[in-house]
Amino acid sequence: MELKVYPDPILAQKCADVEIGDTSVLPILEEMSKKLYEWEGAGLAAPQVGVLKKLVVIDVREDPATLYKMINPKIVWKSEELVDSKEGCLSLPGLRDTVVRHERVRVEYYDTNFEKQIVDGEGFLACCFQHELDHLNGKLYIDHLSRLKRGRFLSKFKKLQKEKSEKETTEDEE
Ligand code: NI
Repeated sequence: MELKVYPDPILAQKCADVEIGDTSVLPILEEMSKKLYEWEGAGLAAPQVGVLKKLVVIDVREDPATLYKMINPKIVWKSEELVDSKEGCLSLPGLRDTVVRHERVRVEYYDTNFEKQIVDGEGFLACCFQHELDHLNGKLYIDHLSRLKRGRFLSKFKKLQKEKSEKETTEDEE
């Protein structure tokens, strides 16, 4: 499993529903969970590892720690109250920016036993649910920025990626 980084076109694609009872997705969720901790993310959505299925893992390191492994998650309710959410994304490494999210959301999903679950999230967890579920629709958090801010973000990001690849080339030569 490899991390897909912007502008990989797979990040802009929509995911397919998982068929209820399709156990072939379970090892994918398992591997995604391992990668979530290895890459030190709060959440990881399947397109970020090249899989176009509605699968998400989330652990916002709350106490007690909860690892959500979600199949076909969907937001069924969102609060009218909005919050500013400072976000980063494993697929957009090195930068963060502030987007507007719903303060609370309710998410319906299937667990790894294919039983329907409902979870309410608020604050950081709610923002994380919204961020990861966006990935399943081919949407990144920067798509919530104004055109001007998104443009600024992307030119900074391109510069950063260029510096990184130049550094790697120099290191290879040494
Ligand atoms: Ni992300």
